[in-house]
Amino acid sequence: MEAGAAANGVVKRVLLSSWTKALVFALCLVPLVDLLWRAYRQDLTANPVEFITHTTGDWTIRFLMITLSVTPLRLWLRQPLLVRFRRMFGLFSFFYAMLHFAAWFCIDKFFDFQEMGKDILKRPFITIGMAALLMLAPLAVTSTGGWVRRLGYRRWRKLHRLVYAIALCGVIHYYWLVKSDVRLPLLYGAIWVTLMTARLIEWRRRRLPAPATSK
Ligand code: HEM
Repeated sequence: MEAGAAANGVVKRVLLSSWTKALVFALCLVPLVDLLWRAYRQDLTANPVEFITHTTGDWTIRFLMITLSVTPLRLWLRQPLLVRFRRMFGLFSFFYAMLHFAAWFCIDKFFDFQEMGKDILKRPFITIGMAALLMLAPLAVTSTGGWVRRLGYRRWRKLHRLVYAIALCGVIHYYWLVKSDVRLPLLYGAIWVTLMTARLIEWRRRRLPAPATSK
């Protein structure tokens, strides 16, 4: 029992440490550094545009899933302090989504707004990807403590529930764009369903009245 309490104390200290936050931040930047390093070494495969678009798309959906898993992990591991990392993961989802969009718009479409508009209207996977990005933007803007105060916690929380829809749009975007092998989009879909089910179970558990204690 004492060993358990001591271990819990260590985990708490690690989670509270600003060094841990800095380390997690640095780890989140690894995909970008890897991409820049590959660009410097001219090692972006025979199709650099496709490579950059795919890599940044992969990291966007990964970060969205990581962000969504913070709350269930907090409950399963009984580590409420994990919440300290949720905002960072959410912001990295937005960061990689912007790089993903920029790769498509700047390198693929060459800043051609007309072409961009056509693609958004004609290709459903682009339409839903764009919807996800547009929903992500207000969440990134309002992610600060100042915005929580300005909106009030309840309204802020309601707004930030948009992340569930954003992650689902990301999964559908991926599912619609792949031509044959749908295993990875389906895997992300299964992760999304699992994380949402975990939330639903917790929500139901909280709504149930506490069992009456016999004297
Ligand atoms: C939250 C938003 C988004 C997520 C999670 C996301 C995720 C992804 C993923 C996972 C891929 C496939 C990567 C792979 O095959 O390895 C991808 C590809 C792609 N995405 Fe996105 N994406 C998002 C938004 C957007 C937006 C806004 C656009 C453009 C307007 C876009 C355009 C593309 C394109 C052009 C591809 C490559 C398609 C192909 O190779 O045929 N995505 N995205």
